[in-house]
Amino acid sequence: MSVNREQFGSKLGFILAAAGSAVGIGNLVGFPVNATKNGGAAFLILYAIFVVLICLPVMLAELSLGRHTKRNPIGAYKRLAPNSLFWNAGGWLSVITPFMITVFYMVITVWILGYFVGTLMGDLDQLAQADYFGAFITSNKVYLFLVALAGLIVFILYRGVAEGIERGAKLMMPTLFVMLIGLVIFVLTLDNAFSGVKFYLVPDISKLTPSVVSGALSQAFFSLSLGMGILITYGSYMKQGDSIASSGKMVALVDTGVAFCAGLLIIPAIFSFNPDTNTAELSDSSISLIFSFLPKIFLALQGSIGYFGASLVAGVFFLLVFFAALTSQVSIMQVPLATLQDELGYNRSKSLLILCVSAGILTLFCILSFGKVAFLTDFIHYAGKSKSFFDVTIDVFYETILPLNGLIICLFVTYKWKKANFDNELELGDPHYKGSLLERYVNLSLSTIIPIVLFLIFVNTVALKYFGVSLIG
Ligand code: PHE
Repeated sequence: MSVNREQFGSKLGFILAAAGSAVGIGNLVGFPVNATKNGGAAFLILYAIFVVLICLPVMLAELSLGRHTKRNPIGAYKRLAPNSLFWNAGGWLSVITPFMITVFYMVITVWILGYFVGTLMGDLDQLAQADYFGAFITSNKVYLFLVALAGLIVFILYRGVAEGIERGAKLMMPTLFVMLIGLVIFVLTLDNAFSGVKFYLVPDISKLTPSVVSGALSQAFFSLSLGMGILITYGSYMKQGDSIASSGKMVALVDTGVAFCAGLLIIPAIFSFNPDTNTAELSDSSISLIFSFLPKIFLALQGSIGYFGASLVAGVFFLLVFFAALTSQVSIMQVPLATLQDELGYNRSKSLLILCVSAGILTLFCILSFGKVAFLTDFIHYAGKSKSFFDVTIDVFYETILPLNGLIICLFVTYKWKKANFDNELELGDPHYKGSLLERYVNLSLSTIIPIVLFLIFVNTVALKYFGVSLIG
């Protein structure tokens, strides 16, 4: 019941928790990979524009919807549109999507934990071997790390929003900032680092093709944890007196700042490892960057700072990514957790148990889909490719449904809940919002341009992913 609903203890606590959700693998690895391949600062500027013009309004919509209804996404849609099957389907999508994203994100977080522990054990030389990653992900060690990670997540979630999520974020996020800045400073002292900085900060506009533009928007959308029901859920624990707009702006700023710093860390590191870096050689995938490429770079540091020093730098890096992934992971699991608690009235332990078992089984399916079980490895074919269970989860829920969820939220807030009610919620605790430029922009864009852009991205993704046809070249 809303009277007893948990709340974040402070505005800062909320901002750190929401930033903890936003700052994840997407910022630390996805962003630098994209920036390197797609024009450096040109990509960065485009990304920042999308954060402000498209993502921030969607973020405010999600947070207000959550705070107003004090519910999980299913409850929020149901409350404002009790008898509409269509809108209720939107609520369901906003819970199923995070649940499925949890599953693939869990797999990657398990690998990061494995690499962190591997570095601590002094195995950096092995991690840097070309065939280590393939062997690691099919080894039995993965199950051990899965159990450890699940235990940690349950521990945090069991303690609740203020005592678990908020406290965890207050501990992990500042540590993350310090580690990130420390690593950036260290990397900038390496030979050739500045050729990387130059590469990063000098914009190359010629790289901005239509598909890069749409990729920048998807990256920003994912990075801010939009379309996943997370901000609706976190909004439901926000205090009435806190300004949603200023909190949202802070979260967007922190998220973009971390992505920017991650670029300053990774790109100079790549250039210092190989001054003749040809960006075409870099794979598109963040996964191969974290697990195959970076360990080689860290190991190469042993020439200047010794094996111990190199392992230390690698350890700090993996811990940094692990904290980022863990704070994102708890935020996303809180969505189905809150749904079970609100909608079915289950207590926290029972809800956590149900979640753990169901997400655990699907995570195992993903783990087994890397060659261990033929049915899961060769799960389905589309657009001329064979896809594993893991690939399908990413394609369907991350690539396709995320923009669709964003689209539904914009339409729901502006046309069903109505702009005036949305405005009232944003004005609570924020007298300056009324009549501001931001208010006018948010109202205009949420009902027109943003849904159109998200719709186009959705249609293009479907055409490209499932039919192999690119509509935008
Ligand atoms: N914002 C996260 C990132 O950048 C995305 C995410 C959030 C993924 C929550 C999973 C869970 O990685």
